[in-house]
Amino acid sequence: MAATIVIGSQWGDEGKGKIIDYLASTSDIVIRFHGGNNAGHTVINKFGKFPMHLVPSGIFSKRAKAIITNGVILDLEVLAGEIENLKKSDIPLKDKLYISPRCHLIMPYHKILDRLYEEAKGKNKTGTTGRGIGPTYADKVSYNGIRLADLMDKKLFSQKLETQLLVKNKVLKALGEKPLEQKEIEKNFFKLFNKIKPYVKETFDFIYDSLDKKNVLLEGAHGVFLDNDWGTYPFVTASTVLSGGATAGAGVPPQKIKNVVGVVKAYTTRVGAGPFPTELFDKDGETLRAAGNEFGTTTGRPRRCGWFDAELIRFAAKINGFTEIAITKLDVLDKFTQIKICTHYTLNGKKVSYNDGTAEFLFKVTPVYKIMQGWAVNTKGVKNFEKLPQEAKTYIKELEKEIGVKIKYISTGQSRYEIITV
Ligand code: GDP
Ligand code: IMO
Ligand code: MG
Repeated sequence: MAATIVIGSQWGDEGKGKIIDYLASTSDIVIRFHGGNNAGHTVINKFGKFPMHLVPSGIFSKRAKAIITNGVILDLEVLAGEIENLKKSDIPLKDKLYISPRCHLIMPYHKILDRLYEEAKGKNKTGTTGRGIGPTYADKVSYNGIRLADLMDKKLFSQKLETQLLVKNKVLKALGEKPLEQKEIEKNFFKLFNKIKPYVKETFDFIYDSLDKKNVLLEGAHGVFLDNDWGTYPFVTASTVLSGGATAGAGVPPQKIKNVVGVVKAYTTRVGAGPFPTELFDKDGETLRAAGNEFGTTTGRPRRCGWFDAELIRFAAKINGFTEIAITKLDVLDKFTQIKICTHYTLNGKKVSYNDGTAEFLFKVTPVYKIMQGWAVNTKGVKNFEKLPQEAKTYIKELEKEIGVKIKYISTGQSRYEIITV
């Protein structure tokens, strides 16, 4: 019985949804504890294909309860849509899905402000998902947020909204936007809340009392290098992505987290702007994008692709305390006769580390590569390490050596069932 946390180790889209769906079958509780519907976690199993944005990817497990805790910010329309979609697929939600009343709400003005900031930044924009994530977290930490709990008291909600619109509408008007109508927002939010109300419940006691008796799985979103503090700021997201974020985001004391699984793509991708030392601009990059179907689950944007970057993963392993690694998308490398691993960076001829500098520094570093032989045969769906071609085994062993953490899972396809446990 233990709490296990699953963390994306690169810039998101490592295949966390797939790994969570796989691990959830032996879990009693699965928790989403930060971020919002900027996350898009793809789950493919016997029930179908689901792009999960807010509901934990473990919802498909017969045994597990799925909980959205206080660290998550909610777009009620997206949440209601996701619930509807799961119901249509006959996925049971009653007495299974719980949502913390402490979750902050993404309001219509947050989405507009997200766009306005991006427009103001012009060519220096972050490349956000446009879901209002940054402005919602900014209001949360500056005591201007509105929470799900506030919707339980219509008068309180209206009062808080009125205060916010007093400021937000002045900003919107000054920037040439139409002011927002209080009544219209209220009507929409009260209607949406009715759909979500059956699942809203304080989650602390239930989670706390389970920590010593049950298997608790925490589903990280995004990726380490999008972390607000330790990522490539300002090209990051607004929440704490790291394993430590679960203490505040889900109310779980640090000593209770026993396993920290780093999910690592067998190469590297990134959506949105910011430094990416191993990015490929040649036909190898195109091959990775096509073979890996590297297009965003949330926005559909083409993902930037590059070789595996061990410097990043070593840092991710240290800062999160990874106890094991899940390598995903090994099969995407099937087409290559030669594969590169970035072992470290140099700057002006000297070896440097990720944490030596900021985003501006990372734009300038030179990746140093080790060349590996490709296997150029099909590994899709392989379920046994011994059945992998020798070159693939060597590649995995080399990654393990570079990272310094045991590789416990190797994913060889999109579906829940295409996985090797080492
Ligand atoms: P997440 O945000 O980390 O959950 O990842 P996404 O779902 O956004 O993106 C990962 C994509 O890779 C999805 O389309 C998955 O279905 C797919 N995927 C996950 N694992 C594998 C794998 O081992 N092989 C292949 N080919 N695709 C995978
Ligand atoms: P999952 O959980 C990939 C990126 C955006 C942008 C930056 C800030 O599916 O791995 P935001 O909308 O959060 O303000 O955008 O962060 N980003 C992600 N990229 N996968 C994600 O989530 C992401 N969540 C945020 O592309 O660069
Ligand atoms: Mg994703």
